[in-house]
Amino acid sequence: MKDQDTSNLSWDEFDEMRDPRPATNDFDAVVERAITRRGFLGGALAFGSAATVFGSAMLTSSRAQAAAHGGFGFEPIDIATDFDIHVPEGYEWKTLVRWGDALWTEADGAYDAETGVSPAMSDKVFGENTDGMETFFVDGKELIAVNSEYVNPKINLPAASDGTPQNADEVMLLKNLQGVTVMEVAQNGGTYEVVKDSPYNRRITHETQMTMDGPAAGHALVQTNADPEGMSPKGTMNNCGSGKTLWGTYLTCEENFNGYFGATGGYDETDGLSRYGIGGEGRYAYEKFDPRYDLTAEPNEPNRHGWITEIDPTDPESTPVKHTALGRFKHENAEMVQAADGRVVVYMGDDERGEFIYRYVSNGTYAEGGSTEGLLSDGQLYVAKFNDDMTGEWIALTPEATGMSLEETLVFSRMAASAVGATSMDRPEWIAANPLKAEAYCALTNNSKRGGDAMPVNAANPRETNEYGQIVRWVPAGDDHGADTFAWDLYVMAGNPQVYDNAYGGSENVTDGNMFNSPDGMAFDSKGMLWIQTDGDDSNEGDFAGQGNNQMLVGNTETGEIARFLTAPNGAEVTGLCWNEDNTVAFVGIQHPGGSWPDGNGKPRSSIIQVWRTDGAPVG
Ligand code: FEO
Ligand code: CA
Ligand code: CA
Repeated sequence: MKDQDTSNLSWDEFDEMRDPRPATNDFDAVVERAITRRGFLGGALAFGSAATVFGSAMLTSSRAQAAAHGGFGFEPIDIATDFDIHVPEGYEWKTLVRWGDALWTEADGAYDAETGVSPAMSDKVFGENTDGMETFFVDGKELIAVNSEYVNPKINLPAASDGTPQNADEVMLLKNLQGVTVMEVAQNGGTYEVVKDSPYNRRITHETQMTMDGPAAGHALVQTNADPEGMSPKGTMNNCGSGKTLWGTYLTCEENFNGYFGATGGYDETDGLSRYGIGGEGRYAYEKFDPRYDLTAEPNEPNRHGWITEIDPTDPESTPVKHTALGRFKHENAEMVQAADGRVVVYMGDDERGEFIYRYVSNGTYAEGGSTEGLLSDGQLYVAKFNDDMTGEWIALTPEATGMSLEETLVFSRMAASAVGATSMDRPEWIAANPLKAEAYCALTNNSKRGGDAMPVNAANPRETNEYGQIVRWVPAGDDHGADTFAWDLYVMAGNPQVYDNAYGGSENVTDGNMFNSPDGMAFDSKGMLWIQTDGDDSNEGDFAGQGNNQMLVGNTETGEIARFLTAPNGAEVTGLCWNEDNTVAFVGIQHPGGSWPDGNGKPRSSIIQVWRTDGAPVG
């Protein structure tokens, strides 16, 4: 492993190399037997024969209905394989902000097409690899809070370095181009642009001082030499999906934090490190130039990352807070809803093969304009069990159930969830809750390792070597997100009906005209339509022939119909979606594009684009 250049790997490939997959649990074995008897293993049967597995909701859709594409305010578009953006007729798009664009006038011209951004200007520009984002409307101003998930070292560092930082300045450059940006945007001449020098503009990086709350704050597991009290962690990293609280703050979700840590000498190879894929050499050699990332010097520093972190975008002086009550794992996003009795509910996925879906429920209740004290620090964390009979339950991760202390269940949530028999999922990405009815959806992006003894198929993750992914949906008992049981089905199984006529061809709402792979980002619009963004194989070959570049689609959750709205430049994933106040402009994240998009020369630049209807009506 020491000889391997890990800076080039995708996060998925890095995870596979480290392979911290959970132990098989008894529940999986039971479900495998049940599904085997139904003959649904390995796609041996056509989907129609297996439709009973998915219940009546799946059967409301059909290929014929989907082809009619009713209910959408646009004509679906074809696939694309080029290095450009495509949107439906009657829509236009324009770049809002690119990696390296100045947030303050002092950084004007900081980006150079040949060399990128200098370390000195790296915390004054828009970061790289845009991801989750949310809009906020404050005192007549429009703000966007947005994540920069990670950096591409080979794009940012001098060519001679071959993607490995050679000194502390280069590490600082890479650290500063990640994290979170808060920026004011405003319309000028009919389209949005960033308001440079706005008092709201802010960069939050690996270096920003934070606090922690909840049961694990201050515990020995989160104490370091630099912070012996364990209450003042520094920085947020690998910020993936996002969330918005009911009270108007931003939630940034720390995902693949594991890759930033390594050891310059000896260290204690604990189960807690290995289950999270931490050990040995870090991906980016930060540990060689900054002891905070060195397990030999600071073995507990990784325990201070992998949390849901709350940021007040309206106050640039505010200190971000890491909420330990919501558990520590590779957080994708955080979807907040409310239980019938007013308690706060947060749905969260852990994006790794075979990991789990979680729910947090506050002990206190929230009413608009009321106190938010304790709502994200005092509550119960649960993990999901999807039963083969299409019922499900939320299992509380209590010390009694897990055999771990409360603090351990939060710092090592993955191990706590394994201990209670949670259902291993096909890489839980974004979760989106329908604003018009009590139901939630989770994108299970794909899972090349599904199947076999180590990770048997189960009803919600029914395909071995699942390269296409699916979206699972659950309806809480009594239409109450606070209920501990639910019913579930699969809204869609992505697939390729041109290549397969079995389960790998996808569910009936997948057609030649809308097919895609690897659903990832998701959000509902105000009309209750589900927007689906993909991060998958865009080779347009073999099993992916006819699927083209990554894309954004819209799903009608009543009929099952799905229609393609946008295609990304080759090489990019589409991730992050929010709207302006009257929904006439959608902001869409284009991460890790290929070619020289969008400038047409020089380096490719991850960017947020704006999309609008030329007639001024709401998007969608
Ligand atoms: Fe950062 Fe799981 O996507
Ligand atoms: Ca994602
Ligand atoms: Ca992904």
